[in-house]
Amino acid sequence: MGNPCRLIIALDVESKEEALSLVRPLIGKVAWVKLGLQLFVKYGPSIVDEFHALGFKVFLDLKLHDIPNTVSSAIKSLKGRPCSLLTLHASGGPEMLARAVEAAKQSIPDCQLLAVTVLTSMDQTQLHAVGVKSSPEEQVKLLAKMAMQSGVHGCVCSPLELPQLRKELGPKPVLVTPGIRYPDGKADDQNRVMTPIQAAQAGASFIVVGRPILKATDPVAETIKICREIGETK
Ligand code: C5P
Repeated sequence: MGNPCRLIIALDVESKEEALSLVRPLIGKVAWVKLGLQLFVKYGPSIVDEFHALGFKVFLDLKLHDIPNTVSSAIKSLKGRPCSLLTLHASGGPEMLARAVEAAKQSIPDCQLLAVTVLTSMDQTQLHAVGVKSSPEEQVKLLAKMAMQSGVHGCVCSPLELPQLRKELGPKPVLVTPGIRYPDGKADDQNRVMTPIQAAQAGASFIVVGRPILKATDPVAETIKICREIGETK
């Protein structure tokens, strides 16, 4: 295996209390949590500080997409927040991405920016409806390359896109993938899935896992199993 792969637990739950009771037993067992719009909108940016204070590294999944000035200002508003990964949409274009990178260097210098290419909810029909004539695969490749040239540190992609993107982008970029499932588990709404070890071997820097952990009978045991599988030991 090449670069190490790490687990990020997606805290896709309704309340901070629920998220806290989930992660408290995992302090010291897993390093990363993902906070998305659901909790960020409800509790505000200080929620980043709270999970960081418990010892977690925070992946802040805000998927920013607006005019360059607005995205850059939003990132400046995160000044000093202890987030280590932040997402924005590659389709915002090279100028938006470059301005975001500049703003992050000043305000959150320890945070790496990740570009979301094509949402996994967008298939060929959906892409055509918004005027994109290429296939989802071609569009992912185009956006990923453009985003890297604009200075972001990596991309969020589906597990099945990992081998191709690793080949195109090389070993350095951070590639983060959701869509992690075991063959005997529920796929939920994820169509294109891989197991943790398959994703790690395909070149993922991080796997993002939500429901397989959140809905497990024993979330701690499930987390430890995944960490062992990808070689993350703490
Ligand atoms: O519950 P599950 O393991 O499917 O969660 C995956 C996480 O990754 C969720 O937080 C979801 O929002 C996120 N995600 C995704 N597909 C994308 C981008 C992000 O599933 N294309």
